[in-house]
Amino acid sequence: MSPTSTPTPTGRLPHLTSRLQGFGTTIFAEMTALAVRHDAVNLGQGFPDFDPPDAVREAAIRAIRDGHNQYAPGSGVPALREAVAEHQRRFWDLDFDPDAEVTVTAGATEAICATLQALCEVGDEVVLFEPYYDSYRASVAMAGAVERVVTLRPPDFAYDPADLEAAITPKTRAVVLNSPHNPTGKVFSRAELEHIAGLCVAHDVLAVTDEVYEHLVYDGAHVPLASLPGMRERTVTISSAGKTFSVTGWKVGWVCAAPALTAAVRTAKQFMTFTNGTPFQHAVAVALRSDDGYFSGLAADYARRRDRLTAGLRAVGFEVFPAGGSYFVCADVRPLGFGDGVEFCRALPKDVGVAAVPTSVFHVDPRRGRSVVRFAFCKTDAVLDEGIRRLGGLSA
Ligand SMILES: Cc1ncc(COP(=O)(O)O)c(C=O)c1O
Repeated sequence: MSPTSTPTPTGRLPHLTSRLQGFGTTIFAEMTALAVRHDAVNLGQGFPDFDPPDAVREAAIRAIRDGHNQYAPGSGVPALREAVAEHQRRFWDLDFDPDAEVTVTAGATEAICATLQALCEVGDEVVLFEPYYDSYRASVAMAGAVERVVTLRPPDFAYDPADLEAAITPKTRAVVLNSPHNPTGKVFSRAELEHIAGLCVAHDVLAVTDEVYEHLVYDGAHVPLASLPGMRERTVTISSAGKTFSVTGWKVGWVCAAPALTAAVRTAKQFMTFTNGTPFQHAVAVALRSDDGYFSGLAADYARRRDRLTAGLRAVGFEVFPAGGSYFVCADVRPLGFGDGVEFCRALPKDVGVAAVPTSVFHVDPRRGRSVVRFAFCKTDAVLDEGIRRLGGLSA
């Protein structure tokens, strides 16, 4: 094969390092292509189909006009680091020093990758809950670390405490926690968080938390792991503006962590992007200072969308697992006579004109979560209603 040949979409990719073999074959590109080909209502992809608030858009335009168009400092523009620190204090009662403990990143994705590159020696173990957000596994692999997986099981996506205890070994460097959780919509309970925190403290393990859905909680409350006893000093808290302000294309995220952890993360991050999106950083600083009504309105709006999609899917005949947060809801396809979520999602755009995502792709072993599919409700009511109407064709 010549160096310019297009690699086959499945199997081993030539040229690709062994660490990353298997990561080139995600189903998302395929689902998106199918959705486009069949003009499907796309309930598969997790980005809002509506605009950010006017004030946030205007802040970005103003920042460009005001000349904030060159490199920002590697740690992020001071206004945003201060706004992040204020936000953590205002919502979660956590104090972070904007200079020594807050770092701006190219979305949560870079934050996760930089954190794992910074903290893991080759061969260290990292505990992930599955189904997982797909970048975690790739970031673990890029760091030369080894994943240890704990399975969340429907209907409530609880984990077996014994599984987590068994996953922690003398080689464990970190536990990665995502709450509210993509793809399941689970919000980890306080009891679960206390269990995780207790193990981290007892075994001197770090925690890396992905809190990008922190403001999309409908049942219960968001509790940052860093707020639990013994966790402030050992948790790397990650979030981003994408979901909270409907600006997933801006890719502005942040890391809050104790000074020594921050110094480590910054060391890796500076050689990944160094810095990004200067005008957007300024705009996110404005957005984070939005009044309380914005944040409560966002959660109320999303709760309504969640209820709309959940009721619609149930009416079609799916078994729907309640989502307490995030903008995803998972459903089992078996009551509709299907067995395999991948086959179901491959057929769905052509058969009824809707796209969804099988959750088996978020498992190490795809047999787990085989019959469960994910729908996104970060869509306008008209799109949700049309999706539900079309899905009605499954039970007709
Ligand atoms: C759990 C989770 N973490 C991180 C991200 C990516 O965040 P960002 O766009 O800020 O990189 C997503 C996006 O879907 C997500 O669902």
